[in-house]
Amino acid sequence: MPKTWFNYHTTDDLRRNAEQLGIDLPLLEDREEIKELLARPVIMRSDGGREWRIGNSLAIHPMEGCDGELDGRPGELTFRRYERFGAGGAKLIWFEACAVVPEGRANPRQLWIHAGSAAGLAKMLEDCRRVHEREFGTRDGLIAVLQLTHSGRYSFSNPLVAYHHPILDPYPYASLASLPPRAKLWEIASDDYLAALEDRFVEAAMLAREIGFDGIDLKTTHGYLLAEMLSARSRPGAYGGPLENRARLALNALRKIRARVGDDFLLAVRLGVYDGVPYAVGADGATGIPRPHETPYTHGFGVNSENPMQPDLAEPLQLIGWLREAGVRLLNVSLGNPYVNPHLGRPYEKPNEGLYFDPEHPLTGVARHFAATMQVQNAFPDLPVVGTGYSWLQHFMIHAGAANIKLGRVKLVGVGRGALAYPEFARDALARGELDPLRTCKTLSYCTYLMRQKDHPMGQFPTGCPPFDKQGYGGIMKQARTAARVTPKS
Ligand SMILES: Cc1cc2nc3c(=O)[nH]c(=O)nc-3n(C[C@H](O)[C@H](O)[C@H](O)COP(=O)(O)O)c2cc1C
Ligand code: SF4
Repeated sequence: MPKTWFNYHTTDDLRRNAEQLGIDLPLLEDREEIKELLARPVIMRSDGGREWRIGNSLAIHPMEGCDGELDGRPGELTFRRYERFGAGGAKLIWFEACAVVPEGRANPRQLWIHAGSAAGLAKMLEDCRRVHEREFGTRDGLIAVLQLTHSGRYSFSNPLVAYHHPILDPYPYASLASLPPRAKLWEIASDDYLAALEDRFVEAAMLAREIGFDGIDLKTTHGYLLAEMLSARSRPGAYGGPLENRARLALNALRKIRARVGDDFLLAVRLGVYDGVPYAVGADGATGIPRPHETPYTHGFGVNSENPMQPDLAEPLQLIGWLREAGVRLLNVSLGNPYVNPHLGRPYEKPNEGLYFDPEHPLTGVARHFAATMQVQNAFPDLPVVGTGYSWLQHFMIHAGAANIKLGRVKLVGVGRGALAYPEFARDALARGELDPLRTCKTLSYCTYLMRQKDHPMGQFPTGCPPFDKQGYGGIMKQARTAARVTPKS
């Protein structure tokens, strides 16, 4: 594998490499055109005529900072992150995964929405809007969506699964070492639990609305509970088997929310449209190899069962149709599971320590994101879709994003790691039609490293971008390294 994959000085270099790889990668050159396309507002309308306007076509993806308080309230670094995002200029801010029940938290510092954390969440939201207004003179067009989640098999205190997964169950996620000694592994969430959970999502959505969010997202991606339900073909009963059963938890929760709030609250979903297969680190300690699996492969969603290395979006498209009928007006498309095949969701230059190098050219991963998003956006042209997978392109992300918008392949360009490194990417894109290459995320995975570090007095290190936000995370990175040396992983 090459030392560096990303080795482009110009869009022509990038275009040539894409051609060599046989990848369809439209790129725009003209700065005025890029500015105009990215500045386009995006409108969402409910059946009843309620309208939401996102003031431009740039979004910040949900990005957990793992920096909340033990009771689920946001902490100082959480407030700081959303102030930075508010000042950045993207008009859609998708607030990070926030658990709806304590047993569904992925780590002890994940946000958790309940009466006791509501004031803190309201401050986080207000700080973000206030700073945005300070910088841009208005709050108009700034849309704030809160991502609601249950972490399922990745819950830190009580892992619950949708069904027994023959590849995931035998290889527990490493940090499960921090589980309480008597925690049961791979307890299946019962039908009664899921039915009650629907109501927990409804209560969380009602509270999010009271707090002042414009809408909520049901996190149905990255291997967490709502996503894992979608592949529960082997599960008996009301929540397993055919797609309508597998989607019941998400659809019931959405319908109930809508019944309570009518058209007055924006419903969004972040949907993983292709799970892929789990990978492992090869014997050389560096190569990523798919874990042995049988075909037809039936343990994924959006996966071609005969060739699981390929997506098959037939079921995801069917589901998106139902989500629309249930009132969803904004969709964020993602891929993969960061615990078992991180290269799918976040193509990277360098893996997190101990993980495998990207087993494909990361541009192939970017193109997979773009192709899946295009398929969804083309199938539902009136449903605004947020695309993912842009950060690896560094400063060329806006050339690709604007081109995808121009071609009708996506409505909103979503940026994840790139926004941790360079929150003002949107301001620069809109003002100048270009980004500062010295500030863009280099996909070196230090943020993922911090996210996986548990040797902290609160059971979790906060995460952010140590190389480009030294003031916030330089010291934290040093502490995490020291802690890892003192408590080496077995
Ligand atoms: C530190 C970190 C935290 C993340 N937290 C979330 C999250 O809370 N919810 C979510 O849906 N995705 C989360 N993601 C995934 C990102 O939203 C995004 O999908 C991913 O980084 C790929 O986009 P990018 O290439 O622009 O970074 C996280 C990623 C990172 C690196
Ligand atoms: S640590 Fe910073 S540069 Fe590295 S991947 Fe994360 S956001 Fe990008």
